[in-house]
Amino acid sequence: MSPPPIQIHGYAIVSDDDRIAGADGATPPALRNDADWAYFQRELDRADLVALGRLGHEANPNAKGRRRLVLSSQVSGLERRGDAWWWNPAQASWRDAAARLLPNGGRLAVPGGQTVFDRFREVGYCALHLSRARSVRLGGGRGLFAACDRGLSAEDVLRSAGLHPAAPEIIDAAADVTLTVWRK
Ligand SMILES: NC(=O)c1ccc[n+]([C@@H]2O[C@H](COP(=O)([O-])OP(=O)(O)OC[C@H]3O[C@@H](n4cnc5c(N)ncnc54)[C@H](OP(=O)(O)O)[C@@H]3O)[C@@H](O)[C@H]2O)c1
Repeated sequence: MSPPPIQIHGYAIVSDDDRIAGADGATPPALRNDADWAYFQRELDRADLVALGRLGHEANPNAKGRRRLVLSSQVSGLERRGDAWWWNPAQASWRDAAARLLPNGGRLAVPGGQTVFDRFREVGYCALHLSRARSVRLGGGRGLFAACDRGLSAEDVLRSAGLHPAAPEIIDAAADVTLTVWRK
């Protein structure tokens, strides 16, 4: 019997050159946008589970008590801890983690960072919600996907993952930030 369906939604804001962070590894203020943040928070409210990297988990207190899945190489398989579920994808498959955490299916939100975006690209996004600060270029920062660090555009990676873009929506005209939802 096939497992119950899980809709996987990724969320990122990138610079015009497809970076999620600067060369120092930090997200620069230019990539923080109120309209994008409000959209992101509304979307997280719709999720049954939020999967993020350990650094993002530690940097962003879980004020709303959302159900989190933290990716880390420092845990054994899938572990329940006081603050979240913790998962090491090298030791437990997504299929097994999903069967345990979303036995009836549901919606998974993926806020990154890069290796987390890559991990769920392999599993398969139902949608990737891509905000873009079109006036910002970060040069040698961290790409949305590892392939972006090797010269591919985010669009190339998303198309090769079988996703197609809706029309871009301007979510902050003054800051020149657009939102494009890529769907399967
Ligand atoms: N612009 C955006 O939309 C956006 C989105 C996300 C993040 N960011 C920013 O991007 C910067 C970089 O974030 P980041 O990618 O370094 O941080 P991150 O994804 O939050 O955390 C990286 C950590 O997550 C764990 N991890 C991630 N993928 C894993 C995997 N497949 N298997 C096992 N462990 C895994 C590892 O933890 P262990 O070391 O414990 O193994 C790794 O050190 C940060 O400044 C962050 O704020 C921006």
